[in-house]
Amino acid sequence: MNISLEIKSISSSETYPIRHEVLRVGRPIESCKFDGDEQTETIHYGAFENNNLVGVISCFLANGCHFYTGKNYQIRGLAIQGYLQQKGYGKALMLHAENFLRQINCNTIWLNARTNVNQFYTKLDYIEIGAAFEVPLIGKHQCFFKKINL
Ligand SMILES: CC(C)(COP(=O)(O)OP(=O)(O)OC[C@H]1O[C@@H](n2cnc3c(N)ncnc32)[C@H](O)[C@@H]1OP(=O)(O)O)[C@@H](O)C(=O)NCCC(=O)NCCS
Repeated sequence: MNISLEIKSISSSETYPIRHEVLRVGRPIESCKFDGDEQTETIHYGAFENNNLVGVISCFLANGCHFYTGKNYQIRGLAIQGYLQQKGYGKALMLHAENFLRQINCNTIWLNARTNVNQFYTKLDYIEIGAAFEVPLIGKHQCFFKKINL
C-alpha cells in the first residue's frame, strides 16, 4: 500500500486526542488544552497518513526562554502516534511549521523539550540554552531555540 503524508492546518480541539494519547497519558482530557490554544495567532498543524490524523504540532506567538524581543514563537504539543514514530513525521511537522514561521517573519522559534528527545531537536539544528528544569507530572525539560530570521 502506498503511504501518503499530508500536513494541514487543524483546529486546537483536533489536537487533543493525540496530545492525550501521546503526551498526557492517563491524565484528564482537560490537561490537553494549553493556554493560548484559541489565540488568533496560534497555528495548529496535523500530519495525515492516508487521511488519518497521526501527528500534531502547535505554534504560539510567545516570548520566553531568553527571547523577549522581536517576534518569537514557541512550539508545543509535538506528538506522533506511538506506532508511527521514527518514520520522519515529527521532522516533517517541524519543518512545515518552520517554513510557515519563516514566511511570517518570526525571528526565533523556541521550545521546552523533554530531555529524552533532545537529540531529535539537535538533529534539526536547534540549540540548547540554559539549564534543564523539572516540569511537574511530566519530567525534565531543556529549552532549545533556532533563529530563522535575523
Ligand atoms: C519526539 C517525536 C515528536 C519525534 O518524531 P518522530 O516522527 O518519531 O521522529 P522522526 O522520525 O521525524 O526523527 C527525525 C530524526 O530524529 C531522531 N529521533 C527521533 N526521536 C528521537 C528520540 N526520542 N531520541 C533521539 N533521536 C530521535 C530520529 O532517529 C531521526 O534521526 P535521523 O534524521 O538521523 O534519521 C515523536 O517520537 C514523539 O511524538 N514522541 C513522544 C512525544 C514527545 O516526546 N514529544 C516531544 C515533546 S518535547
